[in-house]
Amino acid sequence: MEIVRNIEDLRQAVAKLRISAPGIAMVPTMGALHAGHVALVDAARSRGCQVVVSIFVNPTQFGLNEDLDAYPRREAADVAMLEAAGAALLWAPDVATMYPQGFATSISVSGVSERWDGAARPGHFAGVATVVAKLLQQVRPDIACFGEKDYQQLAVIRRLVADLDMGIEIVGVPTQRDDDGLALSSRNTYLTPDERAAALALPRALGEARTAIERGGDVARALSAAAARLAKAGFDLIDYIALVDAATLEPVDRLDGQARLLAAAKIGRTRLIDNLAVGD
Ligand code: PAF
Repeated sequence: MEIVRNIEDLRQAVAKLRISAPGIAMVPTMGALHAGHVALVDAARSRGCQVVVSIFVNPTQFGLNEDLDAYPRREAADVAMLEAAGAALLWAPDVATMYPQGFATSISVSGVSERWDGAARPGHFAGVATVVAKLLQQVRPDIACFGEKDYQQLAVIRRLVADLDMGIEIVGVPTQRDDDGLALSSRNTYLTPDERAAALALPRALGEARTAIERGGDVARALSAAAARLAKAGFDLIDYIALVDAATLEPVDRLDGQARLLAAAKIGRTRLIDNLAVGD
């Protein structure tokens, strides 16, 4: 796997890949890779594409009091994982390459980005939309793969790519989970053993809420039972637990078509998010 760190080398490497491949797929990441990222590379390869992965811890999507400095960085292990997964090219720019002196553009996607994480983390989705637009513009892939674990992010990126006529197919890849059900996340490394055990309440609370709602139970009651379960397990702060329309992400108070349960909550210093399809 070739590793490139400046735009000129990236353009040449992608042009070379294009000669040999029917399609180019991109998997944007912030590194600290795990099996969830490998599933994105697998999804891209299964479509017959050569895979370009980016690793860039994007400062503009972190709030002032968030974990930018603590975010795990371990490029050597990431490279080994990507080589084993069959990625063709790693794009690993630094901050000055992505945001040179004078950089002044920000992309804001209204609607789907406004509630939930958009409300809890002001500026987060403008940071995501801007960096993803840059990464897609730099590589110009045919398809790009993103995890459903960041369900709202996926919706924001779909809107961005459609609105800017980028002509790139966005593939959502199902959340990968540990054997006990916790969604894989680079931030799980922050959890102490006790917090890791307690964190299981998140997928379990969502699973119970889904069952109750699919059986015709009252949505508000199912959501408050889930919130109570998280509080009892030791979550300190619940940003939201909501049932939303799967496409618009607007809240719904009864199940009518495809919906998604979304949740974000903090345990200790770690903020976890998760989601489940409901009514498929
Ligand atoms: O999901 C992530 O890892 C990041 O938000 C992304 C899409 C790579 C943009 O920085």
